[in-house]
Amino acid sequence: MANLSSETVEQLRNAANSAAGNAYAPYSGFRVGAALLFDDDAVVTGCNVENVSYSLTVCAERTALVRAIAEAGAQRHIVAVVVTNLNGAASSPCGACLQMLSEFTTPATMVYFVNGSGMLSKHFTELLPFGFTNWKKEDDARG
Ligand code: THU
Repeated sequence: MANLSSETVEQLRNAANSAAGNAYAPYSGFRVGAALLFDDDAVVTGCNVENVSYSLTVCAERTALVRAIAEAGAQRHIVAVVVTNLNGAASSPCGACLQMLSEFTTPATMVYFVNGSGMLSKHFTELLPFGFTNWKKEDDARG
């Protein structure tokens, strides 16, 4: 798929920013928001939720993904992932999030993330080029 319009990216960025406002990040102070656009036009947001154990922290992208499935099931695909933070830092999705998201992406899925004052856009496969995808999905892609 081609890049989304700048208006759509801006709307998703605003949605992600507003979710970042709910981040629970007392340990890192890094407040992340994610907005997932699905192929039924639904937008589902998430924020990072940290834990005193540190390792049990859930990133914003995975929070959004799990929320989306819980709300509407697993039949939709992700058109775009938008990641922002309230710290003015560049932040692309981490490897664990890319792996989780890859279950529901398509070869056309785009990722937008803050980079300084602007947004960078990348194909999902540029960020996770040789991802471990499930065999069923690979079969579906081959038709
Ligand atoms: N974090 C995310 O929410 N998404 C990412 O893709 C990278 C990292 C969160 C996890 C942790 O709460 C904080 O950022 C600092 O690593």
